[in-house]
Amino acid sequence: MTLPKIQEAQVHNRKVLLRVDIDVPLHNKDILDDSRLHASLETITYLQNQNATIILCGHLGRPDGQDDAYSLDPVAKWFAKKLGLQFTSTKQPIGQLSGWQLSNKLYLLENLRFDPGEHKNSPELVNKLANIADVYCNDAFAVSHRNNASITGVCKKLPHYAGIHLQKEVEELDLVFKKPKHPLVVIIGGAKLETKLPLVEKMHAIADYVLVGGKIAAETQVLEKVTKIDTGNVVLVADLIEQGTDITQNSIDNFLQVIKLANMIVWNGPMGLIRPTNDRKGMPETEHGTRVIADAVSRSSAHTILGGGDTTEFLQELHILDKFSFVSTGGGAMLLLLSGEKLPGLIALCEK
Ligand code: 3PG
Repeated sequence: MTLPKIQEAQVHNRKVLLRVDIDVPLHNKDILDDSRLHASLETITYLQNQNATIILCGHLGRPDGQDDAYSLDPVAKWFAKKLGLQFTSTKQPIGQLSGWQLSNKLYLLENLRFDPGEHKNSPELVNKLANIADVYCNDAFAVSHRNNASITGVCKKLPHYAGIHLQKEVEELDLVFKKPKHPLVVIIGGAKLETKLPLVEKMHAIADYVLVGGKIAAETQVLEKVTKIDTGNVVLVADLIEQGTDITQNSIDNFLQVIKLANMIVWNGPMGLIRPTNDRKGMPETEHGTRVIADAVSRSSAHTILGGGDTTEFLQELHILDKFSFVSTGGGAMLLLLSGEKLPGLIALCEK
């Protein structure tokens, strides 16, 4: 899949609608993990250098209609601070939509999911978005598996390009299929069997080792079924401690032996129960497995790719995210892409 790149577009002095990953975890309006916002800065800077007018847009959470708890106000403030701009919290009309003017060349639209048309990909919202810009740029990998107005709909109305972060996401995740470095070790954790199972199945065919931890490791019969073809690759399913909230020390030790062998590691999902970032008092034992694996992967000299919202937030707090070769902004999108699915947002970018 060859994506049209924003660097190939005519954007000088033009208005660019830039779809970004700004769905960040909040606690009392404080941003708990801003790694997704950082990921958008390269494209913003590129467009600023081209003297383009940038209209940032995106969603936050899953609001049921207009709900102030999901306002992008904290995100607007973050961008203003990061880019050295004055911030006024009063919103103003931007075409038929509303948002913040951060400078005379930079705007941010309010949470697109306040309008049900975003989810429904409604022509009304698509037109409102298309009418405020000359060019559309998708830099929001984490939402590219959604058939939303601001992801696929607007591609039908404006010249469309992939942002710099999105390009990197696709290049990095493509490496796993096209140029894997062996031994390739894929670590899969978390709780949602329906999204993780296809990944275990796909990676069993590609990776030298698939290490399965988290709640899904309890599903031994289902895991056996999807890995029953003999590919010559090894699937190690962790044993869980009595309450099923973490992997056992024996499994941690086995995983560490495998991690030492790796030349490439892909990791998505925690090994045990981790507490939400807004409630992190004490140090519960259920986080032990994830901490030890995180430490080993972050010290590895292998090419390391990390993804999944919970895992990323947790490792951000351990201050080791910068030790990874690449951190994907995608949770569900990363899982689907690695499971071999075609993401609607990427297909839409490739259509003329
Ligand atoms: C994510 O956090 O994975 C993306 O922002 C997509 O969010 P969604 O699952 O609510 O569509």
